[in-house]
Amino acid sequence: MKAHVYEKGMLAVGLGVLVACAAALVYASVALGLHLPGRTAQIVPQDVYRVPPFNQTGVRQTGPNAYEVVMVAQAWAFVPGEVRVPVGSDVTFTATSVDIIHGLNVEGTRLNLMLIPGQVTRNSIRFNRPGEYLIICHEYCGIGHHHMFGKVVVEPVASASAGSSAVTTPGSLVR
Ligand code: CUA
Repeated sequence: MKAHVYEKGMLAVGLGVLVACAAALVYASVALGLHLPGRTAQIVPQDVYRVPPFNQTGVRQTGPNAYEVVMVAQAWAFVPGEVRVPVGSDVTFTATSVDIIHGLNVEGTRLNLMLIPGQVTRNSIRFNRPGEYLIICHEYCGIGHHHMFGKVVVEPVASASAGSSAVTTPGSLVR
């Protein structure tokens, strides 16, 4: 193939970018363990509210600075509609849908899940700043889609030594 030296150069640059992107992808997934929020379990949508953990929706403390939010999406609300965690917590969202496909995005964060009936989705995030974070459904789910929201209230911790005891005791459910 006859090609100008600049043309060959540009082809080499293009190839280099492809190789670099592939290497970054492999590095992120293998070395850093980054994956798409995947389906962690399957569930029968009609049975969601009877099956653990969804028979007790809400916030549960799972460790010194760790919480689990068990949340169900249904047209057109999140259950529970509001969750409270202390600032600095690692919060794992475990969620599913009982009817149709919904989304779960915590505004201003990277937490962005697709909630599919029959599938349980899980992902974690740390809240480093106190404040109110809107939870929005970002999958069009019908006439009430734009009314489908909730919120995460990240509460300031009164003092470092007080920990998070004001919010919940280990293993207890807030809502
Ligand atoms: Cu639920 Cu849009």
